[in-house]
Amino acid sequence: MNIQVSDRLLRLPPYLFGKLNSLKAQLRREGHDIIDLGMGNPDKAAPHEVTEKAREVLTDPKAHRYSSSKGIPQLLVEASKFYQKKYGITLKPEEEIIATIGSKEGISHLSLALLGPGDSVLVPSPSFPIHIWSAIIAGANVITVPLFEDQDQFISNLFTTFKMLWPKPKLMFMNFPHNPTTSVVDRKFFEELIKFAVKNEVILVNDFAYADITFDGHRSTSFLEVPDAKKVGVEFISMSKSFSMAGWRIGFCLGNPDIIKALEKIKGYYDYGIFTAVQVGAIIALREHWEETPAHFASIYESRRDVLVSGLNKAGWNINKPKATMFTWAPMPEEYSHVGSVRFSQFLLHESDVCVSPGIGFGDEGEGYLRIAMVENEERIQQAVRQIRRAMQNTSPDEVMEKYPGTFA
Ligand SMILES: Cc1ncc(COP(=O)(O)O)c(C=O)c1O
Repeated sequence: MNIQVSDRLLRLPPYLFGKLNSLKAQLRREGHDIIDLGMGNPDKAAPHEVTEKAREVLTDPKAHRYSSSKGIPQLLVEASKFYQKKYGITLKPEEEIIATIGSKEGISHLSLALLGPGDSVLVPSPSFPIHIWSAIIAGANVITVPLFEDQDQFISNLFTTFKMLWPKPKLMFMNFPHNPTTSVVDRKFFEELIKFAVKNEVILVNDFAYADITFDGHRSTSFLEVPDAKKVGVEFISMSKSFSMAGWRIGFCLGNPDIIKALEKIKGYYDYGIFTAVQVGAIIALREHWEETPAHFASIYESRRDVLVSGLNKAGWNINKPKATMFTWAPMPEEYSHVGSVRFSQFLLHESDVCVSPGIGFGDEGEGYLRIAMVENEERIQQAVRQIRRAMQNTSPDEVMEKYPGTFA
């Protein structure tokens, strides 16, 4: 039988990173020891006490039942206390917070709850793919706005783009600290943005997945710190990076009660909630480990960043040290820039056994860059730098051009 997929599915291009992953798996099967700096997949474990508590709950038959889709009450209370302790923000647990199966799920379902055909959305580019594709899956149109390093230039471009469009965009996705570019913004940025959103009645969604992974004393601003934020939007946080709980699948959406209610409604149809053992583990993390654990993981990424950036810069690259996130956003070495980021990533994977993400996978504005995830230890990162350097010494840009297709067809 010829299976006809939906038009919705046909609107989605092949997932570039899926193809890179299959190539990586194939090379591993052939015996290559691939240093995987491709996906932002944390390599550390959640705090021991969190794991132990989850293990204890696991043996309770009651925990084997369906859980609550919006999150068990104590979890929502702990998330509210977490925002109070960390940012001095007061949120009503039942009305202004909902637990999500990681922020990726939350963002996807929020797009389905708020957007449909005829709606349009502004997204900074390059971008974390779900900010674009969740809106596309919901049937909306996406207009990308180039993300300049200078926040004033970006915001002015964002407002100009908004004003030029009709019908006016319904929603704007933000994501600071930003994946993949690692850009950060200050409180003034959110003040201007929220003022604009209130005046123009546009919804704001801030993906705050890298809230805690900051370096050199930088502190990231929660969008909800600005008093009017709750009038116009919500923020997503994730336990994945701050607590190294990526596989546990848990995060939160916080802010505007009507938006939370919309997400709650759609999630009520789609899911029965996160496994109770995971929710109880998250309670312990937020209650007992909210301060030192994220700081500990941030310091690990910071040391890795120093090793990676100084190693590649010594080899002739020209990379600025990121202030946040678990990534380095590296301009490709100048002599290779014309080969393109996909071909260069293929070359690195085959000839240095190092997997990185091609910048173009995050949108056209990402071309010319590589996103390098700092998810292996310092020794492995040093090894990756040595292998990259050697591969570049052995293969000229012209040879890279000839040997690799630059696509994943
Ligand atoms: C910007 C951004 N948002 C969301 C996610 C997904 O987070 P979660 O594990 O909470 O779904 C990631 C993961 O890499 C991310 O980089």
